[in-house]
Amino acid sequence: MAKIIDGKSISAQVRNEVHIATSALTKETGIVPGLAVVLVGDNPASQVYVRNKQKAAKEIEMNPIDIKLPEDVSSSILKSKLDQLNNDDSVHGILVQLPLPGHLDEKSIIRLINPMKDVDGLHPENVGLMLGGTPRFVPATPLGIQQLLIRTDNSPSGKHVVVCGRSDIVGKPVASLLLQKDTAANATVTICHTGTADMGVITRQADILIAAVGRPEFITADMVSAGVVVIDVGINRKTDPSSKRGYRLVGDVDYVNVSEKASAITPVPGGVGPMTIAMLLFNTMTAAKLSAN
Ligand SMILES: NC(=O)c1ccc[n+]([C@@H]2O[C@H](COP(=O)([O-])OP(=O)(O)OC[C@H]3O[C@@H](n4cnc5c(N)ncnc54)[C@H](OP(=O)(O)O)[C@@H]3O)[C@@H](O)[C@H]2O)c1
Repeated sequence: MAKIIDGKSISAQVRNEVHIATSALTKETGIVPGLAVVLVGDNPASQVYVRNKQKAAKEIEMNPIDIKLPEDVSSSILKSKLDQLNNDDSVHGILVQLPLPGHLDEKSIIRLINPMKDVDGLHPENVGLMLGGTPRFVPATPLGIQQLLIRTDNSPSGKHVVVCGRSDIVGKPVASLLLQKDTAANATVTICHTGTADMGVITRQADILIAAVGRPEFITADMVSAGVVVIDVGINRKTDPSSKRGYRLVGDVDYVNVSEKASAITPVPGGVGPMTIAMLLFNTMTAAKLSAN
């Protein structure tokens, strides 16, 4: 039976570390790290994510700044809002909550963020720095996955890591992060996606399997080998009439059956999700430190 990789408690450790660093920075320089989160529209899941991020920032004495814009906001208004945040010295980190409504082009909006404040690590300058092995801001979810592995003695170094999914926010950055020539990485990485002919053949070779496909319980027990370490990034709603909300959250991995074979596994919820928030705070603290220099 797999050990549970407890993202909730590891994220509490990270948040505590960031809190200590933030207090020291504020004491030394007077800087209070400011995190601006821009939410366009009223997507309920995004509203929850934004609330959680801002609550976590407040808890560690950062300054959360909420920017809410209507669903039909024009790209020029959004651009001027971002300009204003880029030029505001009390704002150290800027995050635009994704997904954006269809009329806004996400890639071009992300490029409008000052790369020194891009705490989501999605600006091409920060993507390039990470790929080149000199990261400034690494996207929070991949950074959280790396910390989960290291802090549970599941170092990726020398291991075969199989990543299922190639999105810009999870699959691609986690693959690039873990293949770096660095003691906290140094893995052999394979990426699977919809063009992969027989995913099971690849996933069964994994020492560490990272599932980020956005399909409920997609990775089944026959797709993994005994002893694999499983990181489940997925957050999916599964209909459940016995639950008050009518659904429950499940990951991209068939948790019950895969747990029987894996050596360690992240639960959903309580695995990768809390780490994403903790690493966003870490990046915000880094941004504030960079502004001090
Ligand atoms: N815990 C967290 O903090 C956190 C953060 C971000 C995302 N998430 C969750 O993680 C999951 C993935 O998110 P994402 O943003 O990376 O998703 P995404 O942008 O939808 O990307 C999904 C990826 O999976 C691949 N894929 C989908 N169906 C597949 C199939 N049947 N066979 C093979 N590959 C398949 C897609 O391949 P193609 O490229 O070929 O289309 C794509 O690369 C979602 O459930 C999301 O809610 C959680």
